[in-house]
Amino acid sequence: MMTHDIEEILVSKEDIEAICKSLGDQITSDYKNKKPLLIGLLKGCIPFMSDLVKHIDLYVDMEYLSVSSYHGGIASTGDVKIKKDSDISFKDRDVIIVEDIVDTANTITTMLELFKNRGALSVKVVTLLDKPGGRLKPYTPDYIGTTIPNKFVVGYGLDYNELYRNLPYVGILKKSVYTNKES
Ligand code: IMP
Repeated sequence: MMTHDIEEILVSKEDIEAICKSLGDQITSDYKNKKPLLIGLLKGCIPFMSDLVKHIDLYVDMEYLSVSSYHGGIASTGDVKIKKDSDISFKDRDVIIVEDIVDTANTITTMLELFKNRGALSVKVVTLLDKPGGRLKPYTPDYIGTTIPNKFVVGYGLDYNELYRNLPYVGILKKSVYTNKES
């Protein structure tokens, strides 16, 4: 069974619920009288974005972009590719990028550049997880759900080879799963 591949639960279902409420409340208060454009980075953002928006009491637009920097493994290739772009205008919009995790920060810094170049009025980032131990460049997200150690995690949108996204929590994957050895 899928759950047998998990070594340890790092962020429980209950933790995630509390994080979504807290971040949603902060965004509601910070963007009062504004209509932010939430941009989710597919596919990892899906569970987080759908739970987060339920706690944002504002008129919001929602859009998705598909980007990839992993190409199947457990380490970022550093090569950020836009696999599905958006045709909506970002000009003069208050953009909030919704990420599952910030690791090396290659993806998010590339996206920040992109939206600024496309004329956004402001661009902020909300991430469920921050993994500062993985950074290859200095960057701190504007809204952070929780900070985790430099381990490869799966669940609640995060995948290993496209699997485990449907776990209701975030957990550390057993090494044996990706090395084919017992850990
Ligand atoms: P970054 O560009 O290295 O910051 O990585 C961002 C993307 O890499 C995230 O949106 C995830 O898709 C993926 N990623 C980073 N760390 C993990 C992890 O621990 N598990 C699964 N995916 C990860």
